[in-house]
Amino acid sequence: MIKKNELQQKIKNSGGITVTSPLLPPLEEFTELIEEIWASKWVTNMGRFHRQLERALAEYLKVPYLSLFTNGTLPLLTALQALDIKGEVITTPYSFVATTHAIWWNGCTPVFVDIEEDTCSIDPDKIEAAITPCTTAIMPVHCYGHPVKMNRIQEIADQYGLKVIYDAAHAFGVEMDGESVLNAGDMSTLSFHATKVYNTLEGGALVMHDEQTKRHIDHLKNFGFAGETEVVAPGINSKMDEVRCAYGLLNLKQVDAAIEARRKVAQRYREAFRGVPGIRFLEDMPGVRHNYSYFPIFVDAKEYGMTRDELYFRLQEHGIFGRRYFYPLISTFNTYRSLPSAAPANLPVATKVANEVICLPMHHALSEDDIERVVSVVKNPKK
Ligand SMILES: Cc1ncc(COP(=O)(O)O)c(C=O)c1O
Repeated sequence: MIKKNELQQKIKNSGGITVTSPLLPPLEEFTELIEEIWASKWVTNMGRFHRQLERALAEYLKVPYLSLFTNGTLPLLTALQALDIKGEVITTPYSFVATTHAIWWNGCTPVFVDIEEDTCSIDPDKIEAAITPCTTAIMPVHCYGHPVKMNRIQEIADQYGLKVIYDAAHAFGVEMDGESVLNAGDMSTLSFHATKVYNTLEGGALVMHDEQTKRHIDHLKNFGFAGETEVVAPGINSKMDEVRCAYGLLNLKQVDAAIEARRKVAQRYREAFRGVPGIRFLEDMPGVRHNYSYFPIFVDAKEYGMTRDELYFRLQEHGIFGRRYFYPLISTFNTYRSLPSAAPANLPVATKVANEVICLPMHHALSEDDIERVVSVVKNPKK
C-alpha cells in the first residue's frame, strides 16, 4: 500500500490523474475583487460580497432563503440545534463522517439505517423499523448528488412527527422535475469544499424555507448575536469571509460549464463500461438534473476477476488516483461501532457497497487522454 507522502510524490511525478480538481476562478478577476476588499477594509462579518453571494446562490439554486457558512459541517450542526433536535436521529452509515459527527455534537444518538443499492442513499422502506419513542429526526444524504426518495421520507416524517434535515453536500444544483432538491424537508445543507462541484475553497450553506428561520440561523452562525449586546442562543462562529464570498461569486459564473464538462465525462465512462462484467455504475434518473459530482463504480470481484482493492491499487500504479468513497462505513469508526444499529448484520447493503466502490476521477478539467487512460485500466486491469 502506498503511504500518503509517497502518494503525493507519485502524483507529482507521474502526471497523475486525481479524483477531483478544484474549479478555480480566473486569477486576474479574483485579484481585482481582492483589491476592492483591501480598499474597503471590510474583510468579514457579513459584508457586501457576503450579501451578494447569498442572493446570487439563492437565485441560482432556486431556493427562497440560504445562509452562508464557513464549511459544510457547521450548517449540519446548526440545523439540528435550530430545530431543537434531541434523542435519536436516523441516518445513513454510507456518507462522509461529518454527517454523523453533527448528530454526535448535538448530544444526540445516531441510528444507522441501511441504504438502497441503486441510489446508495438511505432505504426509506427500512426507516420505520428504526423509529422509537426517542426518534426526533431523519438526516438522509443525497449521496453522490442522486436524490433520495424525498416524498416517501416526508410521508414517514409526517406520520411520526419527525423533522427532516438533508445533508445535500453533494447536491449543488440538483433538480427533480424542475424543482431544487434543496427545498425538501425542513432544511438542507451544502458543502462548498474545494473538492466539490462548486467551491469557495472551504465553505457551505444552510437552506431554509422562511425569513424568520434565516434570521435565527444568521444569529446562530455568529455566536448567537442578535444585536450588539444581545445573545439569543449559544451559537458558534461559522461565518464566511469576504475573500471567499468574492471567489464564490466568480465561480458561480463558470459552474454550469463545469457541470456540462462533467456530464461528458460520465457519458464516456458509461459508454465504455456498459457490458464490462463485474463493473456496475449509477445511471441518470428520469426527470433529474444531475451535477455529476462523482462517478462511483462498484466492483463484483467474482465477475470482474479482481477485487475492488486490487483494482484501486492497480489504478494507482498507472497514476490514477480514485477514492473509496464511502469506505469504511461511518458505523465502523470507534465512536459509533458499539451502537446497536452499527452492527454489520443491520447494514448488509451498505457493507457490500462500501467494499465494492471506487470513485473514479471526475472533474471539469479531465482531458480526453486522461479519460481514456482511466477507461483502459478499468477495462484491461491485468495489462
Ligand atoms: C456528505 C457530506 N457531508 C458533509 C460534508 C462536510 O463538508 P465540509 O468538508 O465542507 O465541512 C461532506 C464533505 O465532503 C460530505 O461529503
